[in-house]
Amino acid sequence: MSSRRSTRHAVPDFEISTDRSRIDLDVVHGFLTTSYWGQGRTRETVERALANSICFGIYKDGAQVGFGRIVTDRAIFAYLADIFVLPGYRGRGLGKALVRAMLDHPDVRGLPAVLLRTRDAHGLYAQCGFEPAIRPDELMTLRVWSA
Ligand SMILES: CC(C)(COP(=O)(O)OP(=O)(O)OC[C@H]1O[C@@H](n2cnc3c(N)ncnc32)[C@H](O)[C@@H]1OP(=O)(O)O)[C@@H](O)C(=O)NCCC(=O)NCCS
Repeated sequence: MSSRRSTRHAVPDFEISTDRSRIDLDVVHGFLTTSYWGQGRTRETVERALANSICFGIYKDGAQVGFGRIVTDRAIFAYLADIFVLPGYRGRGLGKALVRAMLDHPDVRGLPAVLLRTRDAHGLYAQCGFEPAIRPDELMTLRVWSA
């Protein structure tokens, strides 16, 4: 499972891979500590989260330039998290290719419930089929990271 690749949505010269062994934890943890949602996460916390997720990396000449992960029961529910493209590589379709590859993963495609949270990237996810929660009053949270 972890070595399955998802290149169908890849942008030329870039590769999207679900091979967990290729993940560069320095890049992923390094970016997340600068993100509005992941500040303060330790390397160990990030490593544990990745170990329990379907991870997607974007690679250019073998170097990681983007990341996203899916938390799922593989039957009913999936949650997309920690999606990013490094600043120098943005604006060329990698974010959309990544999200589409994530939604096209065989363990996620067609699941009845797919959720994510975003502060300002609604336009990205809308292009991949997401809509604002139709009945947000039906969604409740116990603890949600701030920001
Ligand atoms: C969001 C992000 C992953 C997009 O990656 P990208 O490779 O630049 O995305 P793409 O080139 O595929 O294009 C994204 C599209 O979504 C749109 N969009 C809407 N809101 C956006 C936002 N907050 N950031 C980036 N793009 C946004 C863009 O305008 C673009 O639309 P277009 O194709 O009509 O021009 C990247 O900007 C990033 O890593 N941002 C910082 C981390 C972040 O906010 N991640 C999302 C957390 S929910």
